[in-house]
Amino acid sequence: MNFEDDHILSIDQFLRADVEAIFNTADKMMPFARREKITKVLDGAILGSMFFEASTRTRISFGSAFNLLGGNVRETTGFEHSAIAKGESLYDTARVLSGYSDVIVMRHPESGSVGEFSKASRVPVINGGDGSNEHPSQALLDLYTIKSELVSRGRSIDQLRVAMVGDLNFGRTVHSLCKLLALFEDIKLVLVSPRELRMPDDLVELVREQGHQVIESENLEESISHVDIVYSTRIQEERFNSQEEADLYRGRFRLNHTIYTAHCEPNTVIMHPLPRDSRENARELDEDLN
Ligand code: NCD
Repeated sequence: MNFEDDHILSIDQFLRADVEAIFNTADKMMPFARREKITKVLDGAILGSMFFEASTRTRISFGSAFNLLGGNVRETTGFEHSAIAKGESLYDTARVLSGYSDVIVMRHPESGSVGEFSKASRVPVINGGDGSNEHPSQALLDLYTIKSELVSRGRSIDQLRVAMVGDLNFGRTVHSLCKLLALFEDIKLVLVSPRELRMPDDLVELVREQGHQVIESENLEESISHVDIVYSTRIQEERFNSQEEADLYRGRFRLNHTIYTAHCEPNTVIMHPLPRDSRENARELDEDLN
């Protein structure tokens, strides 16, 4: 992959070697992230940050990273604060915004929208989440976290055993993470979801075609007992027709301290892309695990 003039829209664009190159760069950047070293490598550069859907972590972390490297951030959040509320097309917005930015990160509620936007952009566009489709930067950082955990145990990503739990149908982080894991060797993926919220078939097929093992289940306790990572996710309520429909699935698979201790192998890593839903009827990841 040539990162210089490409957009980052999907994990489909990546090869294993690309991922390893990014992780090596991330290792080298760690002292800058910790402020042990200072750089102004992005001095004068402008990040256009456009989040047309709720975001805390992704929006602020992209902005902070850009600032830490000496660059500036110009942002718009929510349709109501942008000219899209006046009927402007994504094409027109992209033509204008890309004239003011050196790179753009964008989140939008529709699958494929960030790709559509990128076609009209004069500068590289990074997908910060397009509907239920993909969230490639989240997957990269999740795998980087996994790799960091495994290294201290003398393990590599190959032969990894991961349980993904929750809304696997609408969850874009798990879609991107599946594709990313499939680039490695001999992965065991246990997919735990309500039947109606299964991982889309094309993704299950893609992982199987690469020679990995995929098990689908509706039993949490059984599924988390022989894995290295439990990756919990929130019911993506904003993708359902109504709150009542989302309520049918909220709180179906709850991981808490008692279940973890009773069923997981020692040192199983718990992950969640966050936000976790901490309302009474949800709590997919209990605060007693903090
Ligand atoms: C996720 C997202 O927006 O897809 N959040 C994030 O970016 N870390 C997960 C979610 O909203 O459930």
